[in-house]
Amino acid sequence: MRLALIADIHSNREALDSVLAQIDREGVEAILNLGDLVGYNASPNECLELLQGRNIWSLAGNHDLALLDPERAQHFNIIAYEALMWCRQQVRPEFLEFLQGLPLVREQPGSFLACHGTPLNPDSYIAYHFQGKRVLKDLRNHSQFRVCFFGHTHRRALWYRDIRGKVALRPIAPTTMQLSREEHYLINPGSVGQPRDGNPEAAYAIFDDKDFSIQFKSVPYDVSGAQRRILAAGLPPYLAERLALGA
Ligand SMILES: [Fe+2]
Repeated sequence: MRLALIADIHSNREALDSVLAQIDREGVEAILNLGDLVGYNASPNECLELLQGRNIWSLAGNHDLALLDPERAQHFNIIAYEALMWCRQQVRPEFLEFLQGLPLVREQPGSFLACHGTPLNPDSYIAYHFQGKRVLKDLRNHSQFRVCFFGHTHRRALWYRDIRGKVALRPIAPTTMQLSREEHYLINPGSVGQPRDGNPEAAYAIFDDKDFSIQFKSVPYDVSGAQRRILAAGLPPYLAERLALGA
């Protein structure tokens, strides 16, 4: 199966439009969205309508869960919290049920496991070596999967664990990257709606479970349109500024 991976859309309709238009030309069989549909940016209803209306497999992220239960937003930083509270007032009631129905993980037997933060917790990060090591060990010892997709950090990443147990990050190549069936992997396609790895383009990836390969991609989008909408909504201006920086 050829699968498109997207994550952390965060109500950015301009970015989502561009990514989906590009993915539609990729000839994929399915699209998997790793969570955080809402929060930060200014178009939650438009994004939810698009995601619900298309046949996209979506997971719940920590912002989606916090929208449904604000108790879960208590540890958010002030800007993330403010944006989430704004979003709560905006989201149309019909989408709450859609968000409530999103699973925390997806298991595709013979192919992949997918989650937002880690398979055990949508709030936990895989950002540092000890975190990658722990999740890869669990993947190897307690699952049938060689590959786990995740999001949440808003940064592209390809962690691997080789047969000797060595865990490291593989540098992201601009071309298709061949994976080994003897290794285990944690793969983050980067963020559609608020990338934080210095590239402001909307990120996504294409996974092929037959070739066993991954390709990291990104697409330019109307950043100034998304910024204008954030400012017009009265959301914190930093949320507009960071889009241009990819930070
Ligand atoms: Fe996120």
